[in-house]
Amino acid sequence: MHRDVERILINGEEIRERLDCVAKNLMAEFASDGLVVVILLKGALVFAADMCRRLPVTMTVECLNISSYHGNIKTSGKVEFLDRKMPEVEGKKVLIMDDILDTGLTMCAVSDALLELGASEVRSCVLLNKRKERAGMCEADFKAFDIDDEFVIGYGLDYQGRYRNLPYVGVMKQESI
Ligand code: XMP
Repeated sequence: MHRDVERILINGEEIRERLDCVAKNLMAEFASDGLVVVILLKGALVFAADMCRRLPVTMTVECLNISSYHGNIKTSGKVEFLDRKMPEVEGKKVLIMDDILDTGLTMCAVSDALLELGASEVRSCVLLNKRKERAGMCEADFKAFDIDDEFVIGYGLDYQGRYRNLPYVGVMKQESI
């Protein structure tokens, strides 16, 4: 275990098993071809790479650079789209993949933007769902794990850009923050 990790919350084996399960649910919904997967960078990179390879359907993959945390452990409350060009989704079925649903702000903003661009349908899939009240905010359509409201790292999730490569989801040591 990495020295900055207090405890492992979800290990690699648990992640693999749950991803198999969520992939089956996704396939039940997106069995027909023509899906556009939109990966929110950089947090969803690891999760999405593993999930997409479990979906035997013809898809295209797009990435969106989104910023809401600015390297801290609290959301800035503002979602910024950092790309100059948005993906072409007009008339397409879209599945957004993100690492974690926290306040729900990011997912709402991205989902609204893709609908505005003419997507015929927008659904969302997250690795982690923080258990918390989100009055008026969107929930994820598909989620692998529900977790308590604490700051987590690993399997794509970072603290100041680090720890994305850890093969598990863990809670950071307070003294390392
Ligand atoms: P919102 O609040 O918009 O947040 O749902 C979504 C984005 O915030 C980041 N986030 C985290 N990143 N550990 C992280 O490394 C966390 O515990 C955490 N909570 C939120 C993440 O980038 C997500 O896409």
